[in-house]
Amino acid sequence: MNKKRVLSCIQPTGEIHIGNYFGAVRNWVNLQDKYDCVYGVVDLHAMTMPYSPKELRQNTVQMFIDLIAAGLDPQKSVLFVQSLVPQHTELTWIFSCVTSYGELSRMTQFKDKSDQIEKGSKNSFVSAGLFSYPVLQAADILIYKADFVPVGKDQEQHLELSRNIAVRFNNQFGQYFPEPQPLYTEVPKLMSLADPEKKMSKSMGNKHFIGLFEAEDSIRKKVKSAVTDTGGQAGGQMSPGVANLFTIIKACGKLNEYEALLNDYNNGSLQYKDLKDVAGNSLVELTRPFRLKREELSKDTQLIRRLINESSEKARSFAEKTLNDVKELTGLLNG
Ligand code: TRP
Repeated sequence: MNKKRVLSCIQPTGEIHIGNYFGAVRNWVNLQDKYDCVYGVVDLHAMTMPYSPKELRQNTVQMFIDLIAAGLDPQKSVLFVQSLVPQHTELTWIFSCVTSYGELSRMTQFKDKSDQIEKGSKNSFVSAGLFSYPVLQAADILIYKADFVPVGKDQEQHLELSRNIAVRFNNQFGQYFPEPQPLYTEVPKLMSLADPEKKMSKSMGNKHFIGLFEAEDSIRKKVKSAVTDTGGQAGGQMSPGVANLFTIIKACGKLNEYEALLNDYNNGSLQYKDLKDVAGNSLVELTRPFRLKREELSKDTQLIRRLINESSEKARSFAEKTLNDVKELTGLLNG
């Protein structure tokens, strides 16, 4: 009963790749036993960059399916779709009034994303939504009174803002929100297969990443054509492409194979073909149950609808309680 609460969210911007899985989603799955976990698919955040309505709706449902296929359990954790919990947006407004313009303009992600927009299409503009994105994120976190937020480096600044908002709110209206702490876990960092100096990401194109639900032959093919080096060096500094394949094997939990291959590397007898075979097989084996579960879930649209609604309803009843308290504290009428 006394479990601490963990909250994290993911934007429904398309397929999860193995970099996202090892970097975040696997961790979310593992946290489910020890913590009271709340996870969200944040469709409102996805509206802050140019997007297509049809794809957004599809991607939101697909992300919900994919998280369950990858191991999130809607019986153990609360899994919500952000726009189905309208209390988040209401709290965002209230939080906007305890957030300064100055601190929002210092958000590096806002600067990066507004640069992307300005360089891109003529019809898009930097929206007020993009500017207040971190306030919505603070509402996601604080509305569930989360103790911990598993985040990557890129979200540290947003989490810090959430803490500042909590502190300012508490100073102004009375102690109410806990200050959410980051939860760091050691995670492997996967690099692009085609350009292993860069982090694995979808935006670089298809040959750079492996989708978590990708077909077996496609996984093997991509691993086979991964960039390595000309070989021949015994031991010493590994090239980034070779190191990346080792990272993949280890991340898949194949520790014996990992040690044996490393041994071969160190004595100069490693064939990259063998390294790639093991990496490809490990990934295929790891992801097979995910693919099967995804197929099964995708066939049952009614079940998915029901899961989305039931789970978001759980989130709503919690969020509503917080919002009522907040209205009481901030001088709003509570109907
Ligand atoms: N901004 C996060 C990202 O892009 C997504 C997010 C929204 C989030 N709300 C959150 C993450 C709350 C953690 C907690 O990755």
